[in-house]
Amino acid sequence: MSIVPSSAPLLFFDSGIGGLSVLKAVQDALPNAPIVFAADYAGLPYGIKTEAEISARVPALLGRLVERYQPRLVAIACNTACTIALTHVRAALDVPVVGTVPAIKPAAEATQSGVIGLLGTAATVRQTYVDKLHKDHAPNMTLLRHAAPELVSAAEAKMRGEPVDPAVYVRAMAGLMDQPDGARLDIVVLGCTHFPLVEDELRAAAPHVEFVDGAAGIVGRIRHLTKDQTWPVDPEEGTFVTTGPVARLNTLLPALFSFGLTRITSL
Ligand code: DGL
Repeated sequence: MSIVPSSAPLLFFDSGIGGLSVLKAVQDALPNAPIVFAADYAGLPYGIKTEAEISARVPALLGRLVERYQPRLVAIACNTACTIALTHVRAALDVPVVGTVPAIKPAAEATQSGVIGLLGTAATVRQTYVDKLHKDHAPNMTLLRHAAPELVSAAEAKMRGEPVDPAVYVRAMAGLMDQPDGARLDIVVLGCTHFPLVEDELRAAAPHVEFVDGAAGIVGRIRHLTKDQTWPVDPEEGTFVTTGPVARLNTLLPALFSFGLTRITSL
């Protein structure tokens, strides 16, 4: 088994800044981990893309990123990419890959009413992967699904410090609560990594509901896969790499800096 250098980073990947919700949990658990965060801004949003587009795009980009940064592990912090392309990515890369899928299992363990909501992108909520999570982990429960692409733009805007109309959050929750059985909903799976970034706003729109996301599961997987590895005592500042123009990131810089992502570059 080859020895992983302590400077080898964890590589996070998302279509945009949604993966920061996962990065935060990982940084809390592994504060000395060197970080590269890749955002596919040239491809955002993934939620309106076809399965074929995602399956071709994500492994190709990750191949280039792995070659450039030689990470110890790749964390795909994007439910859309994972529910469609996780198998393709694992087949294409020779580093461990941790994925993010909707947290239906923890939701099923926590619900009292047996009615679970799932907010995700249009591409995620229609996946057979979600049917399988439902069947495996919540077979006797009702799973209400709602595609909320507006929340992706809202999270991006919030991180840029731009105002967002609160009606966006009310509409997203109504998309679940107005369905048959929606009145019995007591837990909502945030099945897109952008959504925990606006969890406070969603909670304000539906104060009686609990929210759950996949970040804790990813932290557990990364801890497990790196348990015999070392971390630098004084890690370098994190890198943020975009597939789009760096110039478009100006208003995002304060948020990126707050995650220690100060080296900004393009792929
Ligand atoms: N953050 C991504 C996810 O977890 C998707 C956002 C998008 O590009 O539509 O699904």
